[in-house]
Amino acid sequence: MRRLFLTRSLFWLLFFAFVLGMYVTFSLRMHMLKNHTETVIPLVRNAIHHHLSARDFEMPKLMTEDYERFTLAIRDISEMPQLLRIKFYDRQGRIIWSDEQKLVGERFTANPGLDRALKGEVVAQYSRLSKEENIYETGLSYILEAYIPLYFGDSEVFAVAEVYYEVGGLFERIARTRVGIWFIILASFLALYLLLSKIFFNASSLIMKQKEDLGRTNQALKKAYLGTIKALVSAVDAKDRYTRGHSLRVAQISVLLTEALSVDDKTRFEIQQAALLHDVGKIGIDDVILNKPGCLSPEEWEIMKKHPVIGAAVLEEAGTLSKDLINMIRSHHERFDGNGYPDGLVRDQIPLGARIIAVADAYDAMRSERPYRKAKSPEEVLSEFETVSGTQFDPMVVETLLGIANQIENIVYAASDENTSHQFVSTTALSTES
Ligand SMILES: [Fe+2]
Repeated sequence: MRRLFLTRSLFWLLFFAFVLGMYVTFSLRMHMLKNHTETVIPLVRNAIHHHLSARDFEMPKLMTEDYERFTLAIRDISEMPQLLRIKFYDRQGRIIWSDEQKLVGERFTANPGLDRALKGEVVAQYSRLSKEENIYETGLSYILEAYIPLYFGDSEVFAVAEVYYEVGGLFERIARTRVGIWFIILASFLALYLLLSKIFFNASSLIMKQKEDLGRTNQALKKAYLGTIKALVSAVDAKDRYTRGHSLRVAQISVLLTEALSVDDKTRFEIQQAALLHDVGKIGIDDVILNKPGCLSPEEWEIMKKHPVIGAAVLEEAGTLSKDLINMIRSHHERFDGNGYPDGLVRDQIPLGARIIAVADAYDAMRSERPYRKAKSPEEVLSEFETVSGTQFDPMVVETLLGIANQIENIVYAASDENTSHQFVSTTALSTES
């Protein structure tokens, strides 16, 4: 995560540094060249206007005498420092003076720079000298080649001067400035990257620490929550001496059933907690009724039937358990055919958790010894379930129970009381973490 962030931020910062660097150095180069051009062109043009007049261009330059007179007239111009070469064209584009006399009178077609200058535009370009051209100044790599329109008081272009002008150290200055700009941009972005990395590391360290604190708090809360459930279950078991350990075994059987039914982890955990707390409402039932050795009278039975509602109400008041979990507790005595209590729910109206807990509750009740009867064998219990499948219990849950009966007997009933108690804690803890 950290490495990915640092790699990506480095990539994007370098990308933006490159784009910015290219833009700034290109703009700077253009600005420096434009500035140089705007200095040189007026200089040359003023010199020409100072030494020549329109009349000089009217003379036929094909004659050697005329050529020499013109050469003399522009001597001061051609001796200007940095001016490497100069040619003059008339308004028809013919060469009327060149340092190569044989070119005088020639006219070259396909010269776009000259064509544009004849229309009044100053055309200037910086170019690298070819080997043939580099005859005047060895060691020069760049020159300014310009076509300068000349007017001599006329509104139309009268003639054009073509000049090759020495650029001097301009390109070296541009190169040095570009290096400086690249250095500043890269150093700035590197500093930005280091600052960003430091902020990121500080923030991620803080988040990690807060996550660890949160994890510790969460574990403490889970511990407190499990402690509360254990205390509640112990309180229920202590009230009813005939059903000691019953809540724990119902929870274990319920978990095995949820695993066989492939119930999701969250619902499984809720069913486990609901199974542990399913008879918590018995706290509100008179001990005389709870511990009565014989059968209950109809009035006593009506009181006893209130325990799912009492349990749900008590846990709802606590406000820490989910509505689904509380509904499982309220409905654990509902029957699949609708003849159960307290709400007479039928089939899918009964929460799946309540249908599972009802089966687990009945299984353990039949497998446990009571003062008025002995514990039934696993075979007898399964036979009873087959009889009431689809009426009292959900046939899907009963079928699952038949499939895992041996597993239930091995895990829940083969262990001693001490081992069972240990298993309760570890099973609960594991489910909490999941
Ligand atoms: Fe119950």
